[in-house]
Amino acid sequence: MLPVEVKPKVYWVGAVDWNIRDFHGYSTYKGSTYNAYLVVDEKIALFDTVKRPFFETMLENIRKIVDPSKIDYLVVNHVEMDHSGSIPETIAAVGPEKVFCSSMGEKALGEHFHQDGWPLQVVRSGDTLRLGTKTVHFLETRMLHWPDSMFSYLAEDRLLISSDAFGQHWATSERFDDQVERSELMHHAAKYYANILLLYSPLVQKLLATVADMKLEIDTIAPDHGLIWRGNPSAILDAYGRWSRQEAKRKAVVVYDTMWHSTERMAHAVGEGLEQEGVSYKLMSLKHNHRSDVMTEILDAEALVFGSPTLNNGLVPTLADMLCYLKGLKPSGKIGAAFGSYGWSGEAVKLINGELEAMKVERVDPGLSLKYVPGAEGLARCTALGRKIGSA
Ligand code: FEO
Repeated sequence: MLPVEVKPKVYWVGAVDWNIRDFHGYSTYKGSTYNAYLVVDEKIALFDTVKRPFFETMLENIRKIVDPSKIDYLVVNHVEMDHSGSIPETIAAVGPEKVFCSSMGEKALGEHFHQDGWPLQVVRSGDTLRLGTKTVHFLETRMLHWPDSMFSYLAEDRLLISSDAFGQHWATSERFDDQVERSELMHHAAKYYANILLLYSPLVQKLLATVADMKLEIDTIAPDHGLIWRGNPSAILDAYGRWSRQEAKRKAVVVYDTMWHSTERMAHAVGEGLEQEGVSYKLMSLKHNHRSDVMTEILDAEALVFGSPTLNNGLVPTLADMLCYLKGLKPSGKIGAAFGSYGWSGEAVKLINGELEAMKVERVDPGLSLKYVPGAEGLARCTALGRKIGSA
């Protein structure tokens, strides 16, 4: 990929990772990008770096703009390795006068790289850095999504370099939101929010309020992954407002796995009941849907319905995995129910109920367990369960 001018003398110099398919448990089925930004002014600053295997790609991009040794400052907005992995090589190649980071960033850099002698300078919210004609304003965004995270705002360019926030895992040759199909872009942005930021939703709301109070003029948001939002960043700001409030539609997600198709039949019958109530729903078999794609559907669903057969007195491992992952992401304001088939002991529904309770999902039914293969009466009970969820 070639460098791309984002604003006058502000360049994307990152890398596109077309082949990554798993990002610590998140299915990046369309790859990702690691965005780094080079600002050329009287002082030259590089904002973030790239995952280590892409260091040479970033350096080549920088060379097309300036001699890397001319870079004065490195700004570390976030220390997770997809952005900091190349910092040791970058510092060695560039020899920056200063490396700016948050106070938590300073700690995290020490705990990741164990290097003495880097010219670190801690910045806090409200601190500024004059580059020449451009000024960088720093804004700490602690726990969005790491303790070290921060934003860098270039006032003269109305440009927010936003670290992971507003990003998407999507490898494209295009660099801007207005160059790609909008619905696919929003899908990837929603998936990113659901899997990375959902549990920090209250902090996202506070941050959006802070940004609004500061009356920052923003016409472009440049995240560390995926497409850059230019022209109309309100599309993603509004979406973050909705997602952080966990606004839900009249929609249900039925998530299940099955051994001999009994629980699957139950899932379909629950779906019929939801349909009879006019509720939009998705049946998501965990044999065919990755947990991170289930999360995308859960983001705007009001009802969560989980089905598992009883296996070895427990849940099938795929559903246990899904519930463990979901619990960590702290969905709120949902209703739910459980179902499943069993042979002789039938613990699955009880175990799902326990997880729903732990997640504060409001159970609308005690749950439905059916022995071995459901017959017509059993399936009718599943449909009734779907109707009950739908009417709730
Ligand atoms: Fe893209 Fe939190 O790293």
